[in-house]
Amino acid sequence: MLNEKCRILEHVEIGAGYRYIVFDAPKMAAALTPGQFVHVKVPALEPSALRRPFSVFDAEDGRVTVLYKAVGRGTFALNGAKVGDEVSVLGPLGHGFPVKCAGVPLLVGGGYGVAPLHFLAKRLPGEKRLFIGGRTAADLLALDKFAAIDGVKVYTATNDGSAGVKGLVTDPLDDVLIELRGEARKFELFACGPDPMLKAVAMRATGTGSPGWISMDRHMICGVGACYACIQKTVRGNSRCCIEGPVFAAKDLVW
Ligand SMILES: Cc1cc2nc3c(=O)[nH]c(=O)nc-3n(C[C@H](O)[C@H](O)[C@H](O)COP(=O)(O)OP(=O)(O)OC[C@H]3O[C@@H](n4cnc5c(N)ncnc54)[C@H](O)[C@@H]3O)c2cc1C
Ligand code: FES
Repeated sequence: MLNEKCRILEHVEIGAGYRYIVFDAPKMAAALTPGQFVHVKVPALEPSALRRPFSVFDAEDGRVTVLYKAVGRGTFALNGAKVGDEVSVLGPLGHGFPVKCAGVPLLVGGGYGVAPLHFLAKRLPGEKRLFIGGRTAADLLALDKFAAIDGVKVYTATNDGSAGVKGLVTDPLDDVLIELRGEARKFELFACGPDPMLKAVAMRATGTGSPGWISMDRHMICGVGACYACIQKTVRGNSRCCIEGPVFAAKDLVW
């Protein structure tokens, strides 16, 4: 685990309250794998303030990118950080996604849950399908970045029908599952986003007997296994999202 003082290289708003923040973090970028997270010390908060956990959207060329939304004290304070400021970043933390796949990788995300899927899509070779859901078109994040990755086919769904299929992200997913099963093709599911979506994806993995990899978002305090704030029930008992997760095998999760 590294604790790097990282200069902010970019900090840009992309709409709907989301921002990319890019850190100059060469050692961290080289060590991170998709689905792992970093623990960021927000510079404007008091020194005793807890770090905030964020998935990694990208880690390449010595740069680590986070996609985040301001929802409370820490993230609103992070909004005020400027290019050139130094930020303490701890990581890589947790266990991420496998970066190989037997069959077609089906990536399912909502909200900032698309962040680790972007990093994963860049590392998984060959064809992959991405399913993004949101309430409205404005909630479908990073579509331009996914479009730039080789082999990605994107499916979208919105609750109000303002982009893609009107409905849930599982609607286009179910169509593709029928297609792939009809062609007797194997697939694996990878998901990050709100709990109801994760549960729906996990059920489809276990229901079809296919591997599923689910990134759980739990409130964290220490981020390094000491406080037991981030417990997720699994078939092996209580697991810590920050150590045994955040990515779990779908078959191991207890909902
Ligand atoms: C493994 C992991 C990866 C994450 N990746 C991202 C990411 O890529 N981008 C991003 O924007 N956020 C991400 N989060 C959530 C992010 O850590 C929280 O939004 C942040 O800590 C809130 O801090 P705050 O001080 O601004 O808000 P607080 O004042 O602490 O909370 C404000 C509101 O946000 C809710 N909240 C706080 N923590 C979480 C959480 N973990 N999940 C859901 N709701 C929460 C609180 O219940 C409250 O309603 C991730 C969380 C985890 C555990
Ligand atoms: S956040 Fe402390 S054990 Fe996971």
